Amino acid sequence: MYTIVYGSTANRDLTAKDNSNILETSLDFNEKNDVSGCLIYHNHRFVQILEGDKTIVEELYLNIKKDKRHSDVTLLYNPSKRERTFSNWSMAFIDLSIDNDNTEERKLFKTNLITYSELAETSDQASAIFWSEVKLILEQNNL
Ligand SMILES: Cc1cc2nc3c(=O)[nH]c(=O)nc-3n(C[C@H](O)[C@H](O)[C@H](O)COP(=O)(O)O)c2cc1C
Repeated sequence: MYTIVYGSTANRDLTAKDNSNILETSLDFNEKNDVSGCLIYHNHRFVQILEGDKTIVEELYLNIKKDKRHSDVTLLYNPSKRERTFSNWSMAFIDLSIDNDNTEERKLFKTNLITYSELAETSDQASAIFWSEVKLILEQNNL
């Protein structure tokens, strides 16, 4: 299993529509290519973990780096071998900036995020890095 964890800065004019387009592309491509992961968006920052076949993940990452919807794409972690941990998610996504959206599904997702981020130190290093970034976002914003 090949994994990449990166962070980036969203473009200033990024809209919720852009995020739903990103998610739509991701769900489609990732599902067809056996890629899984999680994408967090908050305060114009993205953090994403991508897992899958090495060639596919590397090519996808190159594509993502070129994407004009964000910049400062910085690799946070790239271990050579690890188990897949997001196998049920071709791309889980949450926009933590939308405060007035409090549907049950969203509340559950937030609760899961908090739980996952708290468990991070007990899991492998790639997840730990990804989740500690998430934890930071959650803490900084009192979520
Ligand atoms: C933050 C961010 C995360 C993205 N994550 C994925 C992803 O997981 N899977 C995917 O197929 N595209 C993802 N994309 C979209 C790709 O950058 C790109 O638009 C997609 O690979 C299609 O590229 P193409 O138009 O050159 O075919 C992401 C884009 C951004 C800005």
